Amino acid sequence: MDYDVKDPKLASIGQKKVEWSAINMPVLKRIQGYFAKEKPLSGAKVACCLHVTAETANLMRTLKDGGAEVALCASNPLSTQDDVAAALAIIYEIPTFAVKGEDNKNYYKHIDSVLSIEPTVTMDDGADLISTIHKRKRELASNVLGGCEETTTGVIRLRSMDKKGDLLFPVIAINDAETKHLFDNRYGTGQSTIDGILRATNHLIAGSKFVVCGYGWCGKGTAMRAKGMGAQVIVTEVNPQKALEAIMDGFQVMPIAEAAKIGDIFVTLTGCTKVITTEEFKAMKDGAVIANSGHFDVELDLEGLQKMAKEARRLRGVVTEFSMKDGKRIFLLADGRLVNLSAAEGHPAMVMDMSFANQALCTRFLLQQEGKLENKVYKVPKTIDETVARMKLESMNVTIDTLTKEQEAYLSSWELGT
Ligand code: ADE
Repeated sequence: MDYDVKDPKLASIGQKKVEWSAINMPVLKRIQGYFAKEKPLSGAKVACCLHVTAETANLMRTLKDGGAEVALCASNPLSTQDDVAAALAIIYEIPTFAVKGEDNKNYYKHIDSVLSIEPTVTMDDGADLISTIHKRKRELASNVLGGCEETTTGVIRLRSMDKKGDLLFPVIAINDAETKHLFDNRYGTGQSTIDGILRATNHLIAGSKFVVCGYGWCGKGTAMRAKGMGAQVIVTEVNPQKALEAIMDGFQVMPIAEAAKIGDIFVTLTGCTKVITTEEFKAMKDGAVIANSGHFDVELDLEGLQKMAKEARRLRGVVTEFSMKDGKRIFLLADGRLVNLSAAEGHPAMVMDMSFANQALCTRFLLQQEGKLENKVYKVPKTIDETVARMKLESMNVTIDTLTKEQEAYLSSWELGT
């Protein structure tokens, strides 16, 4: 079996991490149980490009137990947990191609290695696998029944392909399931982004002016958690409804040009490019900390920062100090890559449980629908979304009420009024 990991000797440490995370992934575990018995993925070849974490390892085990042939590479050069990658390759015998810190050339070489299985299903976090097939390996597309996409940025890329009529196979937007973005994006990103900033800097959040760029689900979660820790949170937005929502959630809203002058910690979560540019870097206070928690490292103008700095040096762990000509310093975390996965461990298993339950069930759905779907972006079927929510509630021993027949009739009628 082929693989490329940093050090196979890390496998037993990685295995313990995978087991630790499995304890908090009860929904996925239940699905793994059904899959192991019924083998609904027999014959499928699933190519995966995901953050290589302990939670992802549990998804890979579930797909394999379901009868699929699986191969995995990283969806970001800095998010790989090398011990988990080793466990996947050596202990769980899943071809894994991921080394933390890999350069661009190796990142794409690893994508090619995964695609060499000639997949029937693709699973992406950011759409790099699908875009590689569409750009360089179009001959593989006719084999692919469909793909699943995990994240907001990936779904945006795929919707743009769909709109232009460029998609060569159907894709399910896992991100858009309620049991995904309401929990993973909000509570997962919220907590893990703060976790990454803390592990990197050990700064005090209380009393800091904490600037959150973007008030989507990830921004909302981060703003909420920073507020909870005592920060004065400032939100920047381009969307008027989201800006209003931020105001009514109790945050100050202002343009980034204003926020730049007063912020202590800045984090971008927009999915867009050049959100903080040299203009804002110039306006920042000495000691400002900048980080990104959006999928790609394009939200901070890193090239501009590099050019305007007199000197750059690694100060501690993932913190790079940029010194300006006037003596001012700006501290960049994790090279502008996803701070929650590069400086911490990503979202907790408790939320990845639901995201990955959707991935597993949608993989089965794609196989069941063979030949019936068009080449477009689909929502996660409501039944799957609801099943995941119910299973999660069951795992928490929480029961809820059921509509009576009378209530059902009331809700489905229009005649009844005052
Ligand atoms: N994305 C964010 N957190 C993650 C995690 N823990 N595992 C996989 N993908 C993630």
